[in-house]
Amino acid sequence: MVAMEHAGQALIPTLTPEHLELQRAVRNFAQKEIVPIAAEFDESGEFPLDTIRKMGEMGLMGIEVPEEYGGAGMDALAYVLTMFEVARADASHSTIVSVNNSLYCNALLLFANEEQKQKYLRPVAAGEKIGAYSLTEPMSGSDAGNMASRAVLNDAGTHYIINGRKSWVTSGPVADLVLLFTMTEPEKKQKGISAFLVEADKPGFMRGKKEPKLGIRASATSEIVYDNYACPVENLIGKPGDGFKIAMAVLDAGRIGIASQAQGIAEAAYEASVDYAKTRQAFGGPIGQFQMIQQKIADMKTRIEASRLLIYNAVMAKERSKRDGSRYTLEASMAKLFASEMAMFVTDEAVQIHAGMGYSKEMPIERYYRDARITRIYEGTSEIQRMVIARNELGLR
Ligand code: CAA
Repeated sequence: MVAMEHAGQALIPTLTPEHLELQRAVRNFAQKEIVPIAAEFDESGEFPLDTIRKMGEMGLMGIEVPEEYGGAGMDALAYVLTMFEVARADASHSTIVSVNNSLYCNALLLFANEEQKQKYLRPVAAGEKIGAYSLTEPMSGSDAGNMASRAVLNDAGTHYIINGRKSWVTSGPVADLVLLFTMTEPEKKQKGISAFLVEADKPGFMRGKKEPKLGIRASATSEIVYDNYACPVENLIGKPGDGFKIAMAVLDAGRIGIASQAQGIAEAAYEASVDYAKTRQAFGGPIGQFQMIQQKIADMKTRIEASRLLIYNAVMAKERSKRDGSRYTLEASMAKLFASEMAMFVTDEAVQIHAGMGYSKEMPIERYYRDARITRIYEGTSEIQRMVIARNELGLR
């Protein structure tokens, strides 16, 4: 359990010796094992299975999952500290870590029954299998409740027969297990969506086209096509019709993960920029002596620190939620909105400070810039985050 200090309304967690040890271990691993391969995997788009497996052995694929279900049994702060360090080394790795932890494992932890947890949470939390979360369809992204895919209970009442096409599934090309949201009662709209646990090695599960992406290129993303996939009724997560609320509740956790990813990318870009400003010479001295560079450094640093505070605020709200079941939708959306916009600002300024070298693949700066862009889009665009925040403040639905 993290300790708290109050600072105005925001809650700031205190790092315990365990957090500091985790941070040191993840930073060490990420800098030694991930940084050296990041550019190569970005270029090839290959999924970094070896490093993901090693992170599984370190307990990083199920950080908040209790040890009895194969996880590390740590808290929400441990999760974001891990995300900061992994994203600082490579955003692609952090995407895989994020979906596995905050979307897949978190959903099962909150909504699966005991048998489902033993069978489907344990191997993913332990890093032996890879989990995915599948909500989006070709014609339903932000309007997540408007789905074309269907699950129909068979006459015997033993299986749901699933048909349809899901898109933008993170880790889709390699996932062993997928948390799938699909319509069981279309006439009920959102209240007719149900959640299922799907096994990728069963008939009727087909991996579709892999997305050619601007950034996070080593985090494989694909369509998944269901063609009369027979899902046993035991694999329904929660009750029929609970799917939309499960999807949304889990995205609250996911959005803290993406905020942390944006933070890590921005910190890497910022640190490189400070080094460059101190060493790059122009007009007879380091470029950091010029006020126009100093202004960039000051604005980058200030936004990075503000973003970290919003992420910590969301972490504390998530811990509160574990105690009393309250929602932390607002805190998660504010953190995700601010951190992702901050990461775009910081990586753009980092390219500008590095100028030609920032635009060249000889340095990681251009990769940070490309990778940061997705954080304003996935797990809810900036526009959706603003909608969620404003509706909350105005009491609207
Ligand atoms: N927690 C629990 N319940 C929630 C909730 C939350 N965070 N958000 C909404 N709900 C509940 C509401 O209380 C409501 O329940 P009742 O009807 O019982 O009152 C119900 O869900 C419907 O809510 P809304 O009326 O607010 O739904 P909406 O359709 O107006 O819009 C939305 C909601 C915020 C726009 C939502 O659709 C949304 O977040 N869209 C973006 C989807 C998204 O983030 N997609 C990314 C997918 S994952 C991904 O990117 C790929 C990947 O693998 C990383």
